[in-house]
Amino acid sequence: MPLLGVNMLLRSAKSTSRTLPLVCCLALSAAVSAAEPPRAAQKLAPYVSSPQPVVDRMLEAARLKPGETLFDLGCGDGRILFSAAQRFGAKAVGVELSPTLVKRARASVEAQGLQDQIRILEGDMMQVDVSPAQVVALYLMTEANEQLRPKLEKELKPGARVVSLEFKIKGWKPARVEKFESHRHPYTIYVYELPQK
Ligand SMILES: C[S@@+](CC[C@H](N)C(=O)[O-])C[C@H]1O[C@@H](n2cnc3c(N)ncnc32)[C@H](O)[C@@H]1O
Repeated sequence: MPLLGVNMLLRSAKSTSRTLPLVCCLALSAAVSAAEPPRAAQKLAPYVSSPQPVVDRMLEAARLKPGETLFDLGCGDGRILFSAAQRFGAKAVGVELSPTLVKRARASVEAQGLQDQIRILEGDMMQVDVSPAQVVALYLMTEANEQLRPKLEKELKPGARVVSLEFKIKGWKPARVEKFESHRHPYTIYVYELPQK
C-alpha cells in the first residue's frame, strides 16, 4: 500500500478508534520475562514509517540526551533508532513483530556499523522489559497505548519520558504537546514524563 494510503488508514483508525486484527506469534530471547507465560502476540498497529523530520522532532521533544537509552516499541525499519544513535548519541533498542522489518533494520545496523549502539529485538513489545529506557518512542494507536500504559507505569523509572506520535496515552497528562507540519501534513507529538517518586 502506498505510504499516503497507509498514513490515511492510521489517521482514520485514530478517529474511529477501531482495533486491528490479531496477528502472529514470535519468541523473544533475553529480554522476555521468563516469569510470565507467553501470550499470543497482537499486532498493535500497521507499519507506517515516520518521516525523518518528524523523527527528529520527536527526539528533540523528548529531550533525548547523549548516553541515554531509547526504546522504540514497534520500530519498523529502525529509523527512530538511527536518528537516536547518529544525531543524538544515544543507545537505542527497537522491538518489532515483523520478521521482514527486523531483517531490514538489522541489515541497516550492520551496514552502518552501529552494532554497539543499536539492538533490534524480534517479537512482541508487550513481552519486552522496557525498564532500561530513559525514553520510549511510540507510533502506535490509541488502543495500543492503552494496553501499554500499565506496563510502562510498572517498568519505567521515575523521570523517564514517553514520546508518542499522533496518539495520546489516555489517563496520562502530557508534559508537552507539539504540533507542526511536515510535507503539508499536520503532526502532533505528545511527551509524557513518569513522575518522580
Ligand atoms: C506505525 S509503525 C511505526 C514504525 C516506526 N516506529 C516509525 O515511527 O517509523 C508501527 C510498528 O509497530 C509494529 N508492531 C505492531 N504490533 C507490534 C507488537 N505487538 N510488537 C512489536 N511490534 C509491533 C508494526 O509491525 C509496525 O512496524
